Amino acid sequence: MGKVYDALRRAEESRGRMAPGGVAAAPAADWAPAAEVEKVRRVPFWKRWFQRTAVLREEEATSANKRRIALLQPDSFVAEQYRTLRTRLESLAAQRPIRTLAVVSALPGEGKTSAAINLAIVSEMHLDRRVLLVDCDLRKPKVHRTLGITPTAGLAEVLLGQASVDQAIYKVTGPSFEGGALEVLPVHAMPPNPSELLASAKMKALIEELARRYDVVILDTPAALSLPDAKTVTELTDGAVMVVRADTTPESDVQTALDLIDRRRVLGVVLNGSAVDQTYYSYR
Ligand SMILES: Nc1ncnc2c1ncn2[C@@H]1O[C@H](COP(=O)(O)OP(=O)(O)O)[C@@H](O)[C@H]1O
Ligand SMILES: [Mg+2]
Repeated sequence: MGKVYDALRRAEESRGRMAPGGVAAAPAADWAPAAEVEKVRRVPFWKRWFQRTAVLREEEATSANKRRIALLQPDSFVAEQYRTLRTRLESLAAQRPIRTLAVVSALPGEGKTSAAINLAIVSEMHLDRRVLLVDCDLRKPKVHRTLGITPTAGLAEVLLGQASVDQAIYKVTGPSFEGGALEVLPVHAMPPNPSELLASAKMKALIEELARRYDVVILDTPAALSLPDAKTVTELTDGAVMVVRADTTPESDVQTALDLIDRRRVLGVVLNGSAVDQTYYSYR
């Protein structure tokens, strides 16, 4: 079994380090290169995992609205999982500052945007901290649509000097926020040179400015294996959370993404188990 999965299993076994579901946080030291390559779904650990936990199942989160499950149902199981991840990240932050956090994954559709939104929401709900969610997927941005924002300016405009930061930040409010708000820097214009913009000095300066203005800045990224963008963004942050679509993402892809991003930067893992299949149920 690859060491990623060993790390997850150790985390699972260690009370307080993992929620009773699909969200895990492992210290960077656990992320040594895996000796072997194997498909996630061949790893028996996943079956045990699913058996014990009602991981985020399709029927629990099929609609766009339910992606905002933490926002809509702060007492839900999923929200609880993200709160546990947040707590784990906070304990790591006691050792060194973690203000800016990229949410990454190997492939498209693994749940990065959903995870970034949920993590941002539970972070905002905690101790009145100012939290900003930045959509760094300049090619297929989804944060604004998921949160019901219709932006007139976004990240590209800020980087191109066509809008101020304040003009491009939107507030999302809701009963869960108890008077506070999640702030969002979405994407509006989709520039022809996204990778160049994300790698620009302007982007670096912007992230530094945002880190001064907010307690937590969470950055949603495109898939790490297809584009340099996730690596570029992660290099500007204090750490990353990696999303793995359970029973779908080949471990080789996870390993390649960890190598690309630099596994020492990965502070936690979200096991997004939405594609739980019939096999799982037959193990019950
Ligand atoms: N736990 C889940 N259960 C069911 N559907 C999910 C879950 N997580 C994500 N999805 C769905 O999968 C699709 C891809 O998710 P998204 O967060 O946009 O992934 P990414 O940002 O990695 O491309 C979306 O339609 C989303 O609603
Ligand atoms: Mg996305």
